Amino acid sequence: MPELKFPSGFLWGAATSAHQVEGDNIHNDWWAWERSGKAKDLSGQACRHYSMYESDFDLAKSLGHNSHRFSLEWSRIEPKEGTFDQKELEHYRKVIRALKERGLEPLVTLHHFTNPQWFAERGGWENRWLVKYYLRFVEYVVGSLSSDVRFWITINEPNIYAYLSYVTGAWPPQKKSLSSDSKVSNNLISAHISAYKIIKRIYRKAGLSAPMVSIAQNMQAFEPCVPNIRNRLGAYLRDRIFNFSFVDELYRERTLDFIGLNYYNRSLVEVKRWRMRNIFFDTCENNRYPLPKNSLGWDIYPEGLYKLLLKLKGYKLPVIISENGICTEDDSQRWDYIREHLKCVHRAIASGVDVRGYIYWSLMDNYEWDKGFGPRFGLIDIDYATYARKVRPSAKLFGEVCRTGSLDE
Ligand code: FCB
Repeated sequence: MPELKFPSGFLWGAATSAHQVEGDNIHNDWWAWERSGKAKDLSGQACRHYSMYESDFDLAKSLGHNSHRFSLEWSRIEPKEGTFDQKELEHYRKVIRALKERGLEPLVTLHHFTNPQWFAERGGWENRWLVKYYLRFVEYVVGSLSSDVRFWITINEPNIYAYLSYVTGAWPPQKKSLSSDSKVSNNLISAHISAYKIIKRIYRKAGLSAPMVSIAQNMQAFEPCVPNIRNRLGAYLRDRIFNFSFVDELYRERTLDFIGLNYYNRSLVEVKRWRMRNIFFDTCENNRYPLPKNSLGWDIYPEGLYKLLLKLKGYKLPVIISENGICTEDDSQRWDYIREHLKCVHRAIASGVDVRGYIYWSLMDNYEWDKGFGPRFGLIDIDYATYARKVRPSAKLFGEVCRTGSLDE
């Protein structure tokens, strides 16, 4: 069987985020929102990863991973405005050391959707005066952890965060306001730009070699339903704005050392009327171009990853796939998903895109935000009654790729 060889030094691993796996993140806005009765499930103990991280990393290592993406929980480190909890910082230092001892390169996310409750109560990301608090947090943690970390992701999916929290209102603080959305987006952009400069300065001053800093940008494959002019225009604009506006802005400011790409699915565009709202929000109602779906109904479309990677080539920056994954009850579908997406990554590399890593979402099943514990994205199955871990067959197949750096076609 022909083999697809990936470049040497390629980063192979899986991702998590603090609130989705740690458990007991009692000081953040999600915890508060869950308790207002609007979430499907309470995150509660989540996966108990906060105390089980060492054995979880043993599993990641046994699966051949050489890297791991996770996030620091700001609300643990700064539970009250201006009060930094040294013990929590030490916890994350141990987490990072535990990764390194196992030969796993840490990719550390500084903001993955959750905010300290005190920050949310003062207006959160809508309030530009609060950006300085995020920057103070960045300065504090990066200043302390710099010697052990080479990859920083300042903000996870700013576009998804702004869209779900301020446009559709699905996530806290449940606003539906385009003007709030634009304030939040601008504040996230300025937060990244300043955080980037702070991180670089800290490394320079400490005489450390320069770190790689980026965001993790969610991109979707926007495709026209029937390829008429309206749908094509809608798909084009959504691609430009949803997928690329953050990246373009940060690129212009020269504050990206690589591009972190989170890719999951296709999104079909059907613009029913010539109106702004329709151009940006209409989707196909009946599924005229069916594709296999994950258990949340998202269209599986590996080709979309290839097309997006080709578009990223123009930036002449390294790309790391910082998330790609599937929730499914059928684990053989998970392996198909990973394999088909890896083939597209390989094809993109052969076409000259500088892809440096592939991080699967997620290392383990976890708390999928407003969807609760139902969706199973993990390479590792979690039994939420006992917190027992079970490595899935797909994890072993993916592990073979991680170990050998090659994929049988
Ligand atoms: C991404 C998020 C991640 C997880 C996956 C399924 O948008 O970054 O936390 O929820 O989707």
